Amino acid sequence: MNAAASLAYRVALSDHPRSADQRAAILAGELGFGKHFTDHMVAIQWDKATGWHDAQVCAYGPLALDPAAAVLHYGQEIFEGIKAYRHADGSIWTFRPDANGARLQRSAARLALPQLPVAEFTESLRQLVAVDHAWVPSAPESSLYFRPFMIATEAFLGVRPAQGAAYYVIASPAGAYFAKGVAPVSIWLSEDFARAAKGGTGAAKCGGNYAASLLPQQDAYAQGCSQVLFLDPVEGKYIEELGGMNVFLVCRDGRIVTPALSGSILEGITRASILQLARDRGMTVEERKVSIDEWKSGVASGEITEVFACGTAAVVTPIGALKGKDFAVGDINAPAGEVTMALRRELTDIQYGRMPDRHGWMVKLA
Ligand code: PLP
Ligand code: COI
Repeated sequence: MNAAASLAYRVALSDHPRSADQRAAILAGELGFGKHFTDHMVAIQWDKATGWHDAQVCAYGPLALDPAAAVLHYGQEIFEGIKAYRHADGSIWTFRPDANGARLQRSAARLALPQLPVAEFTESLRQLVAVDHAWVPSAPESSLYFRPFMIATEAFLGVRPAQGAAYYVIASPAGAYFAKGVAPVSIWLSEDFARAAKGGTGAAKCGGNYAASLLPQQDAYAQGCSQVLFLDPVEGKYIEELGGMNVFLVCRDGRIVTPALSGSILEGITRASILQLARDRGMTVEERKVSIDEWKSGVASGEITEVFACGTAAVVTPIGALKGKDFAVGDINAPAGEVTMALRRELTDIQYGRMPDRHGWMVKLA
């Protein structure tokens, strides 16, 4: 059992919040992803001697960091992504926060950062929503995306785990991650670069993994693709995941396949939820090694009928085509697959309270 949250919060409301009209104009516009931020944020300090302390909700704004802070030199940083959903009755809910809180702890362990208790993680979301609830949009398929993150703040240039850290939560009203919403996307296969290494940090949600993905991401954009598919870092033969999403293949015979966790794949909470929903439907679920050749030949032969990406930001997004240096498979103009869209519908029906939450995944925030 998780201990209850016990940090006492100081709440210092912003003296320059957006007006109700300004907020309404933002929420009525094209939200996109990660462009707008609410008026407040959460900040909690940690040091080795005191542990977690000084929890506050304060105005959203720049951080004051010592230029010698370890995060700026050695990249000791981790983050999470989790959303708040407004239900038809106005109430605000989040999805499986214990799973995100536990993953933040695993990321912290790998990056030698302190572990925030899971109950404090959920409480930090609740504290932010208590002041910024009006920022949770109500338009269909929109949400408030929380970005909890932790950085090493100790001013010390010796290379060792920092003895001071800070945890923050910022929040961003969000629509679709991809510009075209749920329309199928094209994916670029990274043949020259990996995002993770054997024994590296691939299974942790740390900024460094994303930094490693940006050069291939730039190649993807140049090829008209929106995400990068990474192969396993050892043999370069098996598919792992996209730069910011897990991946699933649907077979003609009804099987649904996703790469097994390999130590270098991020264990997505959407991935785990899709696996459960697929099992609930009686589908045969396979978590195993999937070679890039299986994807290419399966799509070409019709054995693989659908491919999709999933993650908190992406929800469930159909993958229309896969391109590499000397090949292309799939058809970006083909309609999104039926299984993909049915799983997406079921997941979002649970998240938006349109369907009973039979697995107890939803937690009320306000
Ligand atoms: N893989 C990577 C690299 C990610 O950044 C994400 C997003 O968080 C995911 C997978 C999906 O994880 P989740 O479903 O928990 O958002
Ligand atoms: C998320 O889905 O929460 C992520 O962190 C992935 C990123 C593409 C925004």
